[in-house]
Amino acid sequence: MYLGVDYYPDYWPEHLIDEDMEGIVGLGANMVRIGEFAWHRMEPRDGEFDFSFFDSVIAKLKNKGLSIMFGTPTATFPAWLAKKHPAILSEDEAGNPRAFGGRRQYCFNSAEYRRYSARITEKLVEHYRNEPAIVSWQVDNEFGHEGSDMCYCGQCHAAFQRFLKDKYGSIDKLNDTYGTIFWGQTYNDFDEIPVPKKTITTHNPSLQLDWARFRSRSVNGFAEEMTGIVRRCKGDHQTVMTNVSGGFFGKWFDHAEHTKPFDFVSYDNYPVWGGLAEPIPPYAIAMSHDFNRGLKGRNYWIVEELMGAQGHDVIGYLPRPNQARMWSFQAFAHGCTDMLYFCWRAMTRGAEQFCLGIVDHDNVRGRKYDEVRSVFSEIAPYAELLQTEIQSDIAVLYDYDNIWSWRFQRQSEAFDFTAELLRLYAPFYRLNCRIDVIPADRDFSRYKVLLLPAFQMIDDGLAERLKTFAANGGTVVFSFRAGLKDKNNNLRLGAALPGPVADLCGVRIEASEALPKDKMVPVVAAAAGNAAAESLLPERSACAVWRDLLIPVTAETLYRFDDPFFPEAAVTRNRYGEGEAYYIGGGLAEETLDAIARTIVNRNGICHIESEPGVEVYVREDGEARYWFVLNHTAEEKSFRGLTLKPYDSMIVPADEEGPAGRR
Ligand code: GLA
Ligand code: ZN
Repeated sequence: MYLGVDYYPDYWPEHLIDEDMEGIVGLGANMVRIGEFAWHRMEPRDGEFDFSFFDSVIAKLKNKGLSIMFGTPTATFPAWLAKKHPAILSEDEAGNPRAFGGRRQYCFNSAEYRRYSARITEKLVEHYRNEPAIVSWQVDNEFGHEGSDMCYCGQCHAAFQRFLKDKYGSIDKLNDTYGTIFWGQTYNDFDEIPVPKKTITTHNPSLQLDWARFRSRSVNGFAEEMTGIVRRCKGDHQTVMTNVSGGFFGKWFDHAEHTKPFDFVSYDNYPVWGGLAEPIPPYAIAMSHDFNRGLKGRNYWIVEELMGAQGHDVIGYLPRPNQARMWSFQAFAHGCTDMLYFCWRAMTRGAEQFCLGIVDHDNVRGRKYDEVRSVFSEIAPYAELLQTEIQSDIAVLYDYDNIWSWRFQRQSEAFDFTAELLRLYAPFYRLNCRIDVIPADRDFSRYKVLLLPAFQMIDDGLAERLKTFAANGGTVVFSFRAGLKDKNNNLRLGAALPGPVADLCGVRIEASEALPKDKMVPVVAAAAGNAAAESLLPERSACAVWRDLLIPVTAETLYRFDDPFFPEAAVTRNRYGEGEAYYIGGGLAEETLDAIARTIVNRNGICHIESEPGVEVYVREDGEARYWFVLNHTAEEKSFRGLTLKPYDSMIVPADEEGPAGRR
């Protein structure tokens, strides 16, 4: 188990480095990450390589018994490279090259950039391939983050046209697939096809989706190339990974494909960043961990865990005492096995003066230092437990094509994909169920419940797999707009919605309405009297964002719209084979989804744990031994099964559960 910090020795005077290393060791750390932005320090001029500084740093780190993760520095190229080859700079939608001065301003399709990046990566990894203290390589840093996944330059345009020619073969096939007859957009050749930059009205949906797929290929192709170089040059004792940033559903690259070449996934966990007045909700943090665990279907690292308030030009919320510790324990609960905190000490100069770390600029080891030391000392005995596999009965399915389709055409002003995914995820989180978040193309036959938020793009293959899953006893939960589109981002002629899942859902969609922000439409429980009481479902509720007006064919109605014009069903449940399918035809209110989630876990015998709002309980097992990770996400004192939880308390306790939730 590695526990440590992100450290930037190249930022500090030599005399401070020894003192820093003493302090890092004093945390109980055994690893530091270095180097991921130090290209100029290692290649000060074109073709002149100098690793002497890092040679001396590594000698000091080894002397302290610290292992090293070394970052390849392709996220921050030197100024001399931008000056010599300005074509490496990515371009914004207005055609302006991004200025040197930030980071990640490179174009993934620049041949020059790939050549120079390959060379520095090769020189660096070969130089340290036999260094026993370097146990892992981080490739680049947070690929595609901060808007760097998008470039509109001429290199990308030409590469996009080649990408389309490779995909479709003939321009007739592309025209037919896209429906370019519409608005007279028929292409005579691939070199007429534009990058879908700003235009009057909007672009062809199929073109837009292919552009997103091309962006993904660009980012992931660069990552694959650099990772291949590291693999070829590194020592057998060294692993290779990269660090995934937050906002992963808002990125233009498929993360499961992105992380395929790496030995393991690592996540950068920032529950609060920049000008946020409050952290993101606990269920959103939890989902981010489950997403990262789902990328390779196994536990993961965190190489940037927040301890100090972070921000570039604007900063905000200051984590309360023990709150960052609690977030660390939440990460360990959800599958993190090794953790590095960002960072040892914020730089006094440069763009991240306000990205505070463990030690502030006064260089005094204070509360945060003690907080990290307490995490390391308390988690270390559970190293084996943290390696155990997390088995979930519930999985949220996602698909980047579907996400990008919504991103180009969000249909409702109130739509946000991540919010709709969390709308279905959070009710099961509040029941302290373990939840996987996985790509839809994974084998999902072993789960009991599948959640499909805003899954408008469903092809026949996925529809058949979902039907088989339900027929075999599984429960499928769709939210609105299910099955609307095919994988070309087009609608189907002559097919009643929800398209290929219509018989699974047992409904026909009569019509739909996009709801504006802040608008809710009332729904009322279909069951009355005792039936309603039995069902635990609130008598009245409401939908935001969207409404699909459902006509039950074989499904039972749980809720209908309370609307004189549109009294159609709003929420239905359909028996399908041994299983069932729910259709939730709008952004249903939280308390109602909580009641539906409770119904589902009870009908499927899924282990869940009751806890006070704000108290998260996560079960981990190691053979017969079972533990609760108990986390108080609130500023109030809480209790759980006789445990008193101070504000932002976090603890691991043996689970002595015999209650109604039953054993797993
Ligand atoms: C990201 C980056 C780091 C640093 C931090 C600041 O996670 O990976 O280099 O910029 O944010 O919070
Ligand atoms: Zn480009």
